[in-house]
Amino acid sequence: MLNFEYNNPTKIVFGKNQLEKLPAYIKSATDSKKVLIAFGGGSAEKIGLLDQIRAVLSDFDLIEFGGIEANPEYETLMQAVEVCKREKIEFILAVGGGSVIDGVKFISGAAKYEGNPWHVLTRETDDIFTEAIPFGTILTIPATGSEANSGAVISRQELKEKRSMGGPLFFPQFSFIDPSLLASLPERQIANGIVDAFMHTLEQYLTHPTDNLLQEREAEAILMTLIEIAPKVIKDPSNYVLASNLFRCATHALNGNLRCGVPTDWATHAIGHELTALHGIDHARTLSIIMPRLWEEMFEQKKEKLAQYGQRVWNLSGDDVAKQAIAQTEEFLRSLGIKTKLSEYPVDSSETAAIVRKRFEERNWIELGENKSIRPENVERIVNNSI
Ligand code: NZQ
Ligand code: ZN
Repeated sequence: MLNFEYNNPTKIVFGKNQLEKLPAYIKSATDSKKVLIAFGGGSAEKIGLLDQIRAVLSDFDLIEFGGIEANPEYETLMQAVEVCKREKIEFILAVGGGSVIDGVKFISGAAKYEGNPWHVLTRETDDIFTEAIPFGTILTIPATGSEANSGAVISRQELKEKRSMGGPLFFPQFSFIDPSLLASLPERQIANGIVDAFMHTLEQYLTHPTDNLLQEREAEAILMTLIEIAPKVIKDPSNYVLASNLFRCATHALNGNLRCGVPTDWATHAIGHELTALHGIDHARTLSIIMPRLWEEMFEQKKEKLAQYGQRVWNLSGDDVAKQAIAQTEEFLRSLGIKTKLSEYPVDSSETAAIVRKRFEERNWIELGENKSIRPENVERIVNNSI
């Protein structure tokens, strides 16, 4: 078993009708009465969530910042940074999905940083954010696990870039997770959420068989739970039991637990982010385009784990279980209405593979995957084969 260190300080408040606890959670995180509420493009207002939050926080001095986009945009977030500096904000409440929460992680660090925060994201400086405004979250979509981890991904459309950041400062102080909010989500976002959670689990599982027996089974449990509930929860998102299980899977898939003591891959995410940056395709959908092709490209290194996954998760048998497992995964994704080929999207992908390869070379991302063996030439082939 590999050595590891693990700490997850985020308090999770799970279940419906929990919002009356919010003031106490904020008070335990800050002495200030001034709170910035950050939210997205309007769904939190539309479903009445913001009004509920305003009501329970009537004792606080609330400043609102709305309009954080899906794939949170650097320019927008910098406006919020200005608000934080001007208003001397000491606590931020993120109300939304991965995009709002990631955006708030960036805002909280950038507001305390004197230099150019973009250079921190691109690693053009050795600086990192060394201070951050504490924040909590009210999660509205089960997908990224951002509510219980310390990572964030920030986009800058004018440069067609999507860059990541993170570190111990960026764990939320608390996250409220109310499964009944699933009922308000469009089917596209529910499918995205299922797939993102599925892919996070696979990134930390589909490497090679390990001696970490508990971790293997935990990952398989999440995958099997998602497979079991996916069609039902899409059909009936107001079913609280199904919704609760989906939210649990999504948080559990990326709260840091699954990576303890095992190798991880994450190359699908690295490539997928480029497809969002270049073509605007939803995050989970980019992963569905890349992962099956990545498994084919790295088949010799992954075939034993693919066989384990095929047997244990999909109950497959025969000589070619590893290959069947790839086909079965693609069929599962397609059953959720997710396209698995780049050419199925209305984008010009003629240069995509070459651009992604060049970017990875420029960033010195030349040894990806669990064995550090996914090289830029593999990346270019994976993207080409995904068209
Ligand atoms: O902007 P609003 O109006 O709120 O609409 C959002 C958005 O359009 C809508 N939505 C959210 N909750 C809703 C709702 N609509 C109705 N009812 C609700 N209850 O859904 C749309 C998508 O929201 P978004 O936050 O973008 O989705 P998601 O949670 O999938 O987040 C995606 C972002 O997270 C990053 C992705 O790269 C992407 O930028 N990721 C963050 C990770 C992390 N921090 O750990 C890991 C992931 O791998 C991922 O990279
Ligand atoms: Zn993801």
